[in-house]
Amino acid sequence: MARGTRGRRSRAAAAADALAGLEESGPHEGRPAGQPTPPVIQVRRLTKSYGHGDATVHALRGPSDPETGEPMGVSLDIEQGDFVAVMGSSGSGKSTLMNILGCLDVPTAGRYLLDGIDVGHLDEQQLSLVRNRKIGFIFQSFNLVPRTTALAQVELPLAYAGVRAAERRKRALAALALVGLGDRADHKPNELSGGQQQRVAVARSLVTAPAMLLADEPTGNLDTRSTSEVLAIIDGLNATGRTVVLITHEDEVAAHAKRVLRLVDGQVISDVRQGPVAGPPPVLAAQLAGAHQSPGGQGELIGGRR
Ligand SMILES: Nc1ncnc2c1ncn2[C@@H]1O[C@H](COP(=O)(O)OP(=O)(O)OP(=O)(O)O)[C@@H](O)[C@H]1O
Ligand SMILES: [Mg+2]
Repeated sequence: MARGTRGRRSRAAAAADALAGLEESGPHEGRPAGQPTPPVIQVRRLTKSYGHGDATVHALRGPSDPETGEPMGVSLDIEQGDFVAVMGSSGSGKSTLMNILGCLDVPTAGRYLLDGIDVGHLDEQQLSLVRNRKIGFIFQSFNLVPRTTALAQVELPLAYAGVRAAERRKRALAALALVGLGDRADHKPNELSGGQQQRVAVARSLVTAPAMLLADEPTGNLDTRSTSEVLAIIDGLNATGRTVVLITHEDEVAAHAKRVLRLVDGQVISDVRQGPVAGPPPVLAAQLAGAHQSPGGQGELIGGRR
């Protein structure tokens, strides 16, 4: 175990050096103080197709070129601190877009700049480092490791990042406490409710303090109460500065976002702002306003950035 971990750590360290080089030469470096932060996500003419010829599926296509009829791709900016809900019917391309934004998949064509880095120029090792450092993932099916305690699940991304055991444990326990599961650290997935399992997954996604949280239907398998709990945590994380991109089919969930994109057949057909990029997201803002009006109310923000 120790030998394997050491090998992984040194490869990770080499990749970290490579990434640091890329970041230094990126557009964010040398920006004069006071200059607005560039969008954390910049997508240009992105397409994703599967298959060939007549059987081609354009999972992401954007509008068609009026002359040639060819897909022109999806172009999109997402500001740092925004909370974007992606909606659309089954097969409209939501997960395809999310997987590309999360560097889990590559586009057929187009450019994707994450935090100023053109991810198309990164090799597999650098991509996994970007995923580990910059992005937290939450999936509908939780994706927890079976027969493994909540604490070990949450420590995992820190182990990949080469964090030492004592520090890992400390940070993982803090993340579990943040999602209200401080007393469930020793529980395995089959000893937790669905909502608790998803909160473990949320703790795992935030333990590395990533700048961006990507969630693909995080409440799709949850009952109403667990949905509210998980959304309250996500609201709090966004209020403290994390960018959130969340796929959902439900209007009640999308109401938590500051901006709502709707996809139809691989194309963004509407883009509606529900709240300003800065400050808490709409539902939390309303709760805070209510708490402000009634002195006995509670308006605690969850999830400070470390
Ligand atoms: N690996 C693949 N091979 C072929 N076609 C694919 C593949 N992955 C996705 N597709 C197709 O791409 C389209 C978009 O799929 P995607 O998973 O992005 O949809 P979605 O909006 O997330 O749907 P859902 O709400 O059901 O999760 C669909 O028509 C799907 O069949
Ligand atoms: Mg999907």
